[in-house]
Amino acid sequence: MTLIRSELIGFGHCLPEKVVTNDDLAKIVDTNDEWIRTRTGICTRHISEGETTSDIAFKASQMALETAGISAQDLDMIIVATVTPDNTTPSVAAKLSGRLGAKYGAICMDISAACSGFVYGLTMVDNMIRLGQIKTALVIGAETLSNLVDWSDRNTCVLFGDGAGAVVVRATEGEGTSADRGVLATKLYADGSHFDNLKTTGGISTTKTAGVVNMDGKEVFKFAVNALSQAAEFVMETAGVRSEQIDWLLPHQANIRIIEGVGKKLNIADDKVIVTVDHHGNTSAASIPLALSENYASGRLKKGDLVVLTAMGAGFTWGGALVRI
Ligand code: ACO
Repeated sequence: MTLIRSELIGFGHCLPEKVVTNDDLAKIVDTNDEWIRTRTGICTRHISEGETTSDIAFKASQMALETAGISAQDLDMIIVATVTPDNTTPSVAAKLSGRLGAKYGAICMDISAACSGFVYGLTMVDNMIRLGQIKTALVIGAETLSNLVDWSDRNTCVLFGDGAGAVVVRATEGEGTSADRGVLATKLYADGSHFDNLKTTGGISTTKTAGVVNMDGKEVFKFAVNALSQAAEFVMETAGVRSEQIDWLLPHQANIRIIEGVGKKLNIADDKVIVTVDHHGNTSAASIPLALSENYASGRLKKGDLVVLTAMGAGFTWGGALVRI
């Protein structure tokens, strides 16, 4: 039985040039390299020096369009997952549409689902493609979280980084089996009873400012391993795939201990788990597309590879996608 699938045909990423080490952070807050490495697995992160979220999203998008071999005129939709937009409105997607030269009428929107934003965006695009509403879309995760952290709070400022990742998704015909290329299954979740566990201290309708990130790290940690595993298990089961068949597990990059915990729970060997948190830190919505593009560009991820994506973030929101590159 043939059916419409959403194939991932282009990948792009952009990291600001400035690299900040743990020792650099130890000069501004009471922390040290050993604490950060052992608790989080993070060694370095990229921090923007004036580049906005749309600036890095633009560069990631250009690379994704180039690797896909298409032009911005071919896009029916641009979707940006971010919690650090240039403006409260219009969307970063609309700004990108103008800068990229997308065609008249291409749909633009931003998604606010924190670290799950890219998986949320990919799911929405996949559904619109399968319904025949759009054929080609750009799904971007882009963040300048350095603008949203309190640089005097050691509990949070050591965890985050800036970056952008972009994926071009296009309608293709599949056979309806797990051997198809493209998005094979998706699943999204949310539980707003955890609203206060991870949030910014402000917003437009409350403090009239963006606020800064504030979290209960232990609560987030406890929830994350189960949520990330649950989403991955659901999409594998939906597609009829066993964990031994997975080429790569790509969990949201927040903390190496969370990532390893998910790998163990899913019974996926360490050498099949993609890790970028060591040199990216937590880039929220950008973490998955950034890791996809970086690993595709290096040749580690290849066409035909079966990858399970799983993410969790503020809300709490979480979700997964099974994709064959
Ligand atoms: N350097 C040194 N000490 C620190 C630092 C730091 N940067 N940050 C906190 N501490 C101290 C605390 O003040 C506390 O000290 P106290 O006991 O004297 O009060 C102590 O370290 C806390 O230590 P632990 O409880 O052992 O820390 P834990 O192992 O829980 O690790 C961490 C903390 C890394 C935040 C962990 O809970 C975590 O990763 N949680 C997940 C949070 C996360 O990833 N959030 C990102 C967004 S959500 C997402 O992306 C899934």
